[in-house]
Amino acid sequence: MLVRNIWLKGVLKLRVLNVPDSAQLVGIKSQKDKFRGLKIREMMHISKDKIQNATHKYRLNLINSISGIKPANLIGTCAQSSGNNLAIISSVVHIGSNPPLLGFIMRPTQEVRRDTYANIMENGCFTINHIHENLIERGHYTSVKFPSEVSEFDACNIEHEFLNDFPAPFVKESLLKISLRHVETVDIKYNQTLMIIGEVQDIYVPEGNLDDRGYLNLGEMGNVGIGGLNIYYSIKKIAEHPYARLSELPCFDQ
Ligand SMILES: Cc1cc2nc3c(=O)[nH]c(=O)nc-3n(C[C@H](O)[C@H](O)[C@H](O)COP(=O)(O)O)c2cc1C
Repeated sequence: MLVRNIWLKGVLKLRVLNVPDSAQLVGIKSQKDKFRGLKIREMMHISKDKIQNATHKYRLNLINSISGIKPANLIGTCAQSSGNNLAIISSVVHIGSNPPLLGFIMRPTQEVRRDTYANIMENGCFTINHIHENLIERGHYTSVKFPSEVSEFDACNIEHEFLNDFPAPFVKESLLKISLRHVETVDIKYNQTLMIIGEVQDIYVPEGNLDDRGYLNLGEMGNVGIGGLNIYYSIKKIAEHPYARLSELPCFDQ
């Protein structure tokens, strides 16, 4: 416990000063060595000013990466006017499980045409299809700004299917497909983005990848994650812990 407190104090001190002082770092390193063999590396400090003054591309890459690994999904939509549409989206997030809701962030729609958004507003339905290793390259290129009348399914050689009369297309080869009905759009005024929220209607998953407790094994399906806007990571299950209760807190000090 003493070691941990000293270590935490050291990190806090660095945070307050915001300056990676090498003497402090050396001191912390020796404590950290005792902490499961992990070593603290010298930390760069990137302030808001530096972020603002970076080139557009650098800022885009950095800020798109800092939230960590994001889910890799293809959103399928359709509309009478423009046909089927497919777009890679990395911002899908769990909103709640009762009712079962998922959401994703839509980039600003004022100046740039967003077919996904227009289609969802027109027919109120969309599908979320997880990307596995064999879909990465074709899935990535669905982000190209094709003309509205071009279907990314055709342009990127991704087969679509309609299931159980749901009025939005699924990605046939995806191993986890979800249909949703649009229930709410949240206007994020600070940067003109939208959070599109849908209620889950159907889930399609291969037998054997869903256990009797309701857990999906995403790693076994070969599903992938995204860092930034163009780096893809594989997923491997490395741990499982029970619901965290105060009464069952493990001893972390050993
Ligand atoms: C890896 C990756 C992740 C993306 N994630 C999002 C996202 O979360 N939200 C979004 O609005 N656009 C995202 N995009 C951009 C869309 O895929 C792109 O704007 C696409 O052209 C939208 O297609 P649409 O006009 O057919 O709707 C992402 C692009 C890439 C390459």
